Amino acid sequence: MIALDNTVRRALEDEWPDGLLESLPQINLPSALQSGAIAALKSKVLDEKIAITLQMAKLWFSHQLSLTAPSGKFALENSVPERPGRPDKPELVHPMKVKKRKLNSKQGQIALLHSLAHIELNAIDLALDVIARFAREPMPRSFYDGWVQVALEEAKHFSLLRHHLQDMGANYGDFPAHDGLWEAAQETHYSLTVRLAVVPLILEARGLDVAPSMTLKLQELGNHRGAEILSIIYRDEQKHVAIAAKWFRFLCAREGKQPAHTFQKLVRKHFRGPLKPPFNDTARAACGLTPLFYRCLTATNRS
Ligand SMILES: [Fe+2]
Ligand SMILES: [Fe+2]
Repeated sequence: MIALDNTVRRALEDEWPDGLLESLPQINLPSALQSGAIAALKSKVLDEKIAITLQMAKLWFSHQLSLTAPSGKFALENSVPERPGRPDKPELVHPMKVKKRKLNSKQGQIALLHSLAHIELNAIDLALDVIARFAREPMPRSFYDGWVQVALEEAKHFSLLRHHLQDMGANYGDFPAHDGLWEAAQETHYSLTVRLAVVPLILEARGLDVAPSMTLKLQELGNHRGAEILSIIYRDEQKHVAIAAKWFRFLCAREGKQPAHTFQKLVRKHFRGPLKPPFNDTARAACGLTPLFYRCLTATNRS
């Protein structure tokens, strides 16, 4: 096997919940990255979705997968699903029906961690969907490297939160959740530029704004493991936003468009409602998402 880059090796091997990697089911992957991403997207079994994502990343980074299968073999059953496979629970409800609880009770913390786990599960499927849906775009290999790494790290984030929920006597699926993230995926399915603007650069970037205070709060309340997991997620999410910002700028440059202006135009068209301050300007700017992109999209500035 070819030696793996240190960042990839860390994502593949470090920080996963104890014993999880050894307990995942054995998976035989097809020979193409796109088919692997479709298989993981379609899987309704959480451990299987994680195992396929992990195996796909291992094989891709050791150059054992082609990007797509030969077009003649691209059969209908390999088409990208409209919705990802999911277990029966959690029940999906309207966002207004997802109860908000105070963090100072154990139940409140469990509810918060459950909603974060749901976001991370969506994030796995969203990264897989970028790979599967846009595999035939004329993009460099390093674009797919970035999204395989994102899918792999989202799988780790979800697994960490799910196991922490179990340690706290709960499980993923115990509370209803909403489908807002997947609705954003469906709204942006027709264009990679639109997808990058709305999903990672709006929704994922929002995570950078709220994560530091949430981490601090869990730490103050004595949930040190929860705080530690949120720190891992925050570190990785900065990489994810940076990957998206880099490729958004690449696509704009290729089409001769100005990135900040194009971003605002796409967000006004495809994202309902204004962006909510306060923004974590420092972390956002370090990812290449400067205030010039988003400042004018708040309630007071949005026209
Ligand atoms: Fe994540
Ligand atoms: Fe992410």
